This record gives sequence, structure tokens and C-alpha cells, in this order.
Amino acid sequence: MKLICPRCKGDLMLEAPDQLRCEKDALDFRQVDGVWRFLLPERESHYARFITDYERVRHFEGRFSAEASYYRALPFQDLSGRFSKDWKIRAASFRALTKVLPANSTVLDLGAGNGWLSNQLTLAGHTVYAVDLLVNAEDGLGAWKYFESTFTPIQAEFVALPIPDSSVDAVIFNASLHYAENYEYTLAGALRVLRSDGMLVIMDSPVYREAESGQKMVAERKQQFLDRYGFASDTIQSEGFLTYKHMQALEQSLDVRWQHIVPFYGLHWALKPFFARLRGKREPAQFGLWLGRR
Ligand SMILES: C[S@@+](CC[C@H](N)C(=O)[O-])C[C@H]1O[C@@H](n2cnc3c(N)ncnc32)[C@H](O)[C@@H]1O
Repeated sequence: MKLICPRCKGDLMLEAPDQLRCEKDALDFRQVDGVWRFLLPERESHYARFITDYERVRHFEGRFSAEASYYRALPFQDLSGRFSKDWKIRAASFRALTKVLPANSTVLDLGAGNGWLSNQLTLAGHTVYAVDLLVNAEDGLGAWKYFESTFTPIQAEFVALPIPDSSVDAVIFNASLHYAENYEYTLAGALRVLRSDGMLVIMDSPVYREAESGQKMVAERKQQFLDRYGFASDTIQSEGFLTYKHMQALEQSLDVRWQHIVPFYGLHWALKPFFARLRGKREPAQFGLWLGRR
């Protein structure tokens, strides 16, 4: 697939094997350490603080390794042992995804992080473009070097993708859509690049019945960050969570039909809402996959 200018959506000239140029906007896009850099200069300051805060938190939490085996084993095993419970959910969602994704798809992995999903999908025969803001080699796109498969890592933002119209079979937001600042605008951008018979996938974003529960979760997280790191990590006005009502509204405004799949994540997760009610705690988040088709 030919990449396009994320600003004017026009064609790019190949200036060198690691450099593309938009003549109209007089912009050069380079491949640095294996990652194509498509974050527009006018958007760098918007994300600078988010990236610094996010990288500090993820490093502090220990979401990295110097071993390739750690990255290659995801999502099936967390060789660090730090987030094994979370990765159990991720693995179940991934298995559900593999059942619905047509063979040999061209896939956009949006908010790819270290690229584990891109790696697994490439190994399964798909052609994958991994997009994220982060380029570091611990938890960002720079971790491509640990994988045995070859996919295309691209630094870009959800709402300015260097991807041509109607060019991919699946756009996947993997534990990332809740970082978007506006779901409707972000998903409209994802639909632009999706073929008419393609599939939009939102997986492992927290969803609540009541918006109030999501707001409480966001407030709790902010307080946790303040207590642990001294900053709230809220420089980007992310939506933070989904609600069933919001998903219904998006179905109308985007003209897509959702299929909601909730894999069995184990008894612990199945019983969470029950125990939360019993203890008078807020509604716990649910996870799963939303498959959107036109
Ligand atoms: C919780 S992580 C999920 C990473 C990975 N998909 C996974 O499953 O481990 C969310 C990712 O979304 C990325 N992200 C957040 N907002 C973004 C945006 N506007 N454009 C591109 N990536 C974004 C973050 O940098 C982060 O890597």
C-alpha cells in the first residue's frame, strides 16, 4: 500500500528508500530506526506531554523487557509475570478476533503500542500497519525489532492517518479507542480508510452501563497517578471509556452495525459485577470486542 500525506491526503514522492515527500505541503516524512514518522509538525506539541507522562508511567509499571522472548510471547504469556491477569483477557480477546478476521486481510492496528497484535496477525498471514504515537523500543513501535515477523510501524495520530481511502480490510483499535478525544471524529477517520465491506474492530476498551461508573473509574485513575507519580496524566482530553448508550449513538451517527462479542474471561471476571454490587462498589468495566460493519 502507498502511504499518503496525512495533512492534504495527496500522493507522496519517494525521495529515498527512507524518505517520502509531499510537494504540495513541502513536508518530508522519514523512516527513523525502522519507524515511519508521520506525526505532523503542528501536532507534536499537542501530544508532547501525553507521550512523556505515558512513557514514564509505563516504564515505572515495568511494561517492558530487554528480552525478545517477552514481546514474542504476548498475548499468550506474560513472561515478566507482572500483568498475567490482564494478558489472560487480552489473549481471550485476541482468540475471538482471529475467528472473525478473514484470511490474508490488510489490517491497521491503531494504538499498537509495542506491536504484539501486529506481530501475531502478521504471523497468521495478514499484512499489517501498526500505528501509534510512541516510538520508544520498550513499549512503543521501536519494539518492532524484537519480533520475528515483518509489519510496517508508523508514528501517526488516529485522526491524521497516512493511509489512502478504502484501502484496508480491518481497522483495529486494540485497547486504545478510549484514548481518543472524540469517538465520532476518530471512528469517521477509521471508516475513511476501510473498504466498504471491511470491519471496524474496537477491542479491550472499558465499557460501562452507566456513564457515572466510567467517570468514577477515570477519577480514581487520576488520583492513583497523582499519588504515585505526582501528575494526573490528563493533558489529553481522552473520552476514557465507552458506554452501551454511546455505542448505540455511534451506530446511528456513523451508519455502522455493531456485533458485540464478550469472550469468557474466567469465573473471576464473570463474577466481578456480582461482588461489586455486594460490596457497594462501583460497576466494574466490561471488555470484549465490538465489530462494526457498514
Ligand atoms: C493501552 S495502550 C494499548 C497498546 C497495545 N494496543 C496493547 O494492546 O498493548 C494504548 C495505546 O494507544 C496509543 N494512543 C493513544 N492515543 C493515540 C492517538 N491519538 N493516536 C495514536 N495512538 C494513540 C498510546 O500511545 C498507547 O500506545
